[in-house]
Amino acid sequence: ISLKPYNTFGIDASAKQFVSINSENELKEVLTYHKETPKFILGGGSNMLLTQDVDKLVIHVNIKGITTLESNNEYALIKVNAGENWHEFVIWCINHNLGGVENLSLIPGNVGTSPVQNIGAYGVELKDVFYSCEALEISTGKKRVFTKEDCEFGYRESVFKKQEKGKFIITNVTFKLTNTNHILHTAYGAIQQQLATNGVTSPTIKDISDAVITIRESKLPNPKEIGNSGSFFKNPVVDKNRFTAFQKEYPNAPFYKVSENEYKIPAGWLIEQSGFKGKRFGDAGVHKNQALVLVNYGNATGSEILELAKNIIKTVTEKFNIPIEAEVNIV
Ligand code: EPU
Repeated sequence: ISLKPYNTFGIDASAKQFVSINSENELKEVLTYHKETPKFILGGGSNMLLTQDVDKLVIHVNIKGITTLESNNEYALIKVNAGENWHEFVIWCINHNLGGVENLSLIPGNVGTSPVQNIGAYGVELKDVFYSCEALEISTGKKRVFTKEDCEFGYRESVFKKQEKGKFIITNVTFKLTNTNHILHTAYGAIQQQLATNGVTSPTIKDISDAVITIRESKLPNPKEIGNSGSFFKNPVVDKNRFTAFQKEYPNAPFYKVSENEYKIPAGWLIEQSGFKGKRFGDAGVHKNQALVLVNYGNATGSEILELAKNIIKTVTEKFNIPIEAEVNIV
């Protein structure tokens, strides 16, 4: 079958064998009956670039359902199955007045893959609301619980991208969200500006969600209209020495100070300065409003997008002597 509807880049790669899973038990069965078969795990398909057909058994994790495990005056523990759409879950939280995920509105993908790259935007990361998750070990079908510590979250990083890469399928995630006294994150300039534009002075979690939705819609392409995977690259983090040298040469470059010795430089800026913003090569391109995002205008192949990505990495590295790397998984 074609995987085109299953990846937000809209790449037309095909899978020889494909199974959609609706429950943890079904998943366990597939893992035990097809023990020897190589497998490829597919969630929301929002963070990968398919550069060839998939020879393995594709397991589409489509387990749905949201359960409240606990709810008191302060917080609630909400268990969400892996196949729930991330943004629909955020809206569910806003409608139930549960705080914590409003800044993460409109991030593409599913709940089950959100811990893998520790999704983040506008001053909030998944780790800030993550309580635990359950996963089945692919080789044995055995269940394992991962606490927040077990996950070793970092900037667009987790244990699922490092030691445990390719070994587990996350079946559900439990979030700890506020019921009252919501902690609002409005420090980002873009959020403050949008709230002011909307005439909001004391924001609710819904106001913040609405602001984030407006901001994202204004600069990020909607995968339903133009294929993309959000930020294709990570923002590079450099040490103080390299940053000082960089800043001397480019005093107007934007940056975030991460710690005493670490500075993050927006890859979007580096790519724009290298002349790629809005450029199109066949059906592969760099988005016109956000250079961090690569897009498929229709029929680009994964290899064409990858070619473009490599060209960008090479150009940026040569021009700035700052290496950038892909954030999406190249398959
Ligand atoms: N910039 C440019 N040109 C561009 C894009 C950005 O000069 O084409 C400059 C902007 O002017 C700004 C700076 O880069 O000064 C930062 O841009 P922005 O606030 O848009 O954020 P970002 O660093 O590009 C990161 C995340 C986004 C997240 C935003 C907001 C990464 C890899 N990306 O982008 O995440 O939404 O911050 O918090 O960390 C995603 O992961 O898919 C994603 C969209």
